[in-house]
Order: sequence, then C-alpha cells, then structure tokens
Amino acid sequence: KEIRIFSPGTVSNVSCGFDVLGFCLDTVGDDMVVRISSEKGIRITKIEGFDLPFETHKNVAGVSAQALIDDLKPDCGFEIEIYKFIKPGSGIGSSAASAAGSVFAINELMGRPYTKTELTRFAMKGEALASQSEHADNLAPAIFGGFTLVKSLCPLEILELPIPDELYATIIHPQIEIKTAEARAILPKSVPLQDAIAQWSNLGSLVHALHNGDYELLQRSLHDTIGEPYRSKLIPHFEDIKLATLASGALGIGISGSGPSIFALSKGEKTAKAVEHAMRKVYTKTSFQFETYVSKIN
Ligand code: HSE
Repeated sequence: KEIRIFSPGTVSNVSCGFDVLGFCLDTVGDDMVVRISSEKGIRITKIEGFDLPFETHKNVAGVSAQALIDDLKPDCGFEIEIYKFIKPGSGIGSSAASAAGSVFAINELMGRPYTKTELTRFAMKGEALASQSEHADNLAPAIFGGFTLVKSLCPLEILELPIPDELYATIIHPQIEIKTAEARAILPKSVPLQDAIAQWSNLGSLVHALHNGDYELLQRSLHDTIGEPYRSKLIPHFEDIKLATLASGALGIGISGSGPSIFALSKGEKTAKAVEHAMRKVYTKTSFQFETYVSKIN
C-alpha cells in the first residue's frame, strides 16, 4: 500500500507575524511517495531534485516520520521517496514540506490516528533538525492549508484564519541560499519597546483584516519592524524589489520566512501577475538567477 502526496511550499512570518503566521502556496511544492513495508522503521529510498542525506536521522522527513512511529509503534515500517522541487534554503518552507509530508502521508496510510496538530508536533522534530529551533509557522500551513497562526508551541495550538476572496501571493526566489539558523543568529536578542508595539499592532490588525476581508487594512498592516531591518541586507536588491512591487499595485511585501525569497500579497490575479512582472524586471537587470510563482491563497 502506498500514497503519493503533494507537500506545499509555505510563506512564514508574513511580515508582522515572526514565528507565528504562515500561509500555504498551491503552485510550488514537493511530491512524496510513502509506502508501507514489512520491515519496521523508516527508510528513505529515493531523493530526486536536490542532494540531501538518505540516513533517517539526518533527513528532516526521516526525523519527523521517526517521531511519529516512536509514538504509534506500528507493526510495519515505511519507505519514503522524496521528489524535491523546493530548493533548500529558499525561504518558502523546503524543510517544512519534507517534515510535514512524511507524517501527513503515514497518517493517511494508517487510517488517520492523529489530528493535524499532533502531526505538526511530530513534524517540528524534523524542522528543528534543519533550522536548529522548533518553530511551526511553516509546518502549520503545510499541514492545515490556508492561513494559520501558531497561538502557542507548548501546548501546541494552531488557529486557522479566514482568507479573503481574491487574495494572491507572488513570490520571487533569487537562487542564493540563506540558512535559517544563520538568519536567526543575526537577529538581536531583545527588541526596543517601540518596535515591539508596532509589530503586535500590525499583527493584530492583519488578523482583523483577514477576518473582515479588509484589503485596505491588510495593506497598512504588512510591515515588519523586527526581522526585515536585519535580514533584508542578506537579500540582493530587496529595496528595489519593494519599490517596484508596491508601484505595481501590491498590498505589501516582505521576506518569505528567513529569505531569500520575497513575497507580495495582492488583491486579484491580474495584480499578482503585474507584481510578478515587476519583480522579474528588477532581477533581469542583474546577474542573479531567480524563479517566480503566483499562488491563490486558499
Ligand atoms: N519563522 C522562521 C524564521 C521561519 O523566520 O526564522 C524560517 O523557517
């Protein structure tokens, strides 16, 4: 018995929700095949796309699957094939897609013994291997879909947020790698009170805007006073992308996860595509390779 799944890319932080907000992309993600085997344990039998370790304890999909079977203690084992399309270190949830995909698939094969929150907890073990910190802001949207808020890690509580009709994301992924652990290490350990106030006021108003389908308020909430001032320096032409994107009608832009990908939110597909065009134009003038995606958030 086997299952083939699509494990989506995700955008985390979403400007003002560092480590708590995230949404799911439908146009970029990995494929995985998970198969029940008579031999107990987890084996990664195939990896295509990128050079990643096959050893279970070194592979994020393996670590999260192992955490699940340590709890479930099934009478069988699992073989995992990973077809990676999301480049590691891209900022669009590459490790989360692998960590979430393996536990989601095993849960389906076993008749869904676990809730989505429990699956997220197992997947956090894999995510921690990749980024050296347990956070769930990419895992939650990968597992629940849509737009999510991680209310707390201990106990793990995830809220599913409503999504206004016509909300689109445009992503540009410059083909450089930023390791999440390094992008976390450059952040200051404490935050000035004024910056914290601005961030939680924007986070509250962004959530309010999602609930009310209030695009104007959404636009005024997409600011990051905590991560962006430090991390944007790691991303080539970030300010040029920001100016071009806002001029072409985006509601707002920010760093996707820990970068280097940049996301923009727009109302309607037409604007999201105009934003994509504007982003591409900025990078076309440089020597950087890049990819772009447009996704409806749903
Ligand atoms: N919230 C995390 C960070 C996401 O910004 O470091 C990256 O995986």
